[in-house]
Amino acid sequence: MNRHAINALHDLPRAGLGHWPTPFHFAPRFSADLGVDVWLKRDDVQGVALAGNKLRKFDLVLGDALAEGKNLLVTTGALQSNSARIGAASAAAVGMRSVLLLSGEQPDTASANVLIDQLVGAEVRFAGDVSWDYLNAGVNDIVSEFHRKEYKPFAAPVGCSSPLGALGFARGFLELHEQMETAGVKPSAIVHTSTSGGTHAGLLVGRALSGSDVRIIGIDVGAIHGNPSQALLELANQSAARLQVTLDLATTDVEITTDHLGEGYAIPSEAGNAAIDLLARNEAVLVDPIYSGKGLAGFIDLVRSGQLDGPVVFWHTGGYHALFA
Ligand SMILES: Cc1ncc(COP(=O)(O)O)c(C=O)c1O
Repeated sequence: MNRHAINALHDLPRAGLGHWPTPFHFAPRFSADLGVDVWLKRDDVQGVALAGNKLRKFDLVLGDALAEGKNLLVTTGALQSNSARIGAASAAAVGMRSVLLLSGEQPDTASANVLIDQLVGAEVRFAGDVSWDYLNAGVNDIVSEFHRKEYKPFAAPVGCSSPLGALGFARGFLELHEQMETAGVKPSAIVHTSTSGGTHAGLLVGRALSGSDVRIIGIDVGAIHGNPSQALLELANQSAARLQVTLDLATTDVEITTDHLGEGYAIPSEAGNAAIDLLARNEAVLVDPIYSGKGLAGFIDLVRSGQLDGPVVFWHTGGYHALFA
């Protein structure tokens, strides 16, 4: 345990947005179906506009912005971005204005995340069919625009996967570590859905701080990084540097697979849809076709193909709003 760095992590300013710890529980019927003990970490359950994994990131990013006297969040994502929606909701919850730059065209009828973006009062701009790089650059342009209008704006990138945002998941790992110890659970692996990589990078930092050697496996459903292991390692190192820690990690320690991407980001897959049904029928827990359902499909495949022994943890990163899009 690196007490010094853990204290530094806990001393970072926070916006105070979530209800933590999120639940951690055994999934009895799902376990019986898979033939191994499965535990669920429920980040789909935590305050502010139906939550999901990005709340841990925005809690730190907004905490830092508030401490710096900022008053307007600019962030970005796909049309049905969970990250942008949580950013907008988090900003509203602390009385701050937000501007979202979303890819895609303005829908005739707002549903799911787009509906929530509107409900929480975000200004939403639609960028059309553009790349992730275009969106991140567009955020910087909007920040400059609001600087000129005398605001104190700040930016959060795609997925809020900045080094500071990722540290929300270092906190998350330590939270789960304590829950696993209390429950007497020693899993062979913690599996989660990955896209921009902040969740995975933060979990790696948290694992290093705790001294645990549990495997952390990311199911990449976005393939937005040319070399995901390298990108995650770099982000984890940058996050750790904020705590004055050096990680002893190689890219080979970063376990991530794109095997469950199917036809591509945001395109539902048959295996993902089957995973949604399996978890809903067995546990009444909802995952979505774009993120956590495909991640769960990867998890099920790892277990059924004998690559993972029980007990295992599936970290539910949220996203079930997409079921209503
Ligand atoms: C529901 C859900 N799960 C997982 C992820 C992946 O998290 P990260 O971008 O930190 O890799 C996302 C990202 O948008 C998400 O919305």
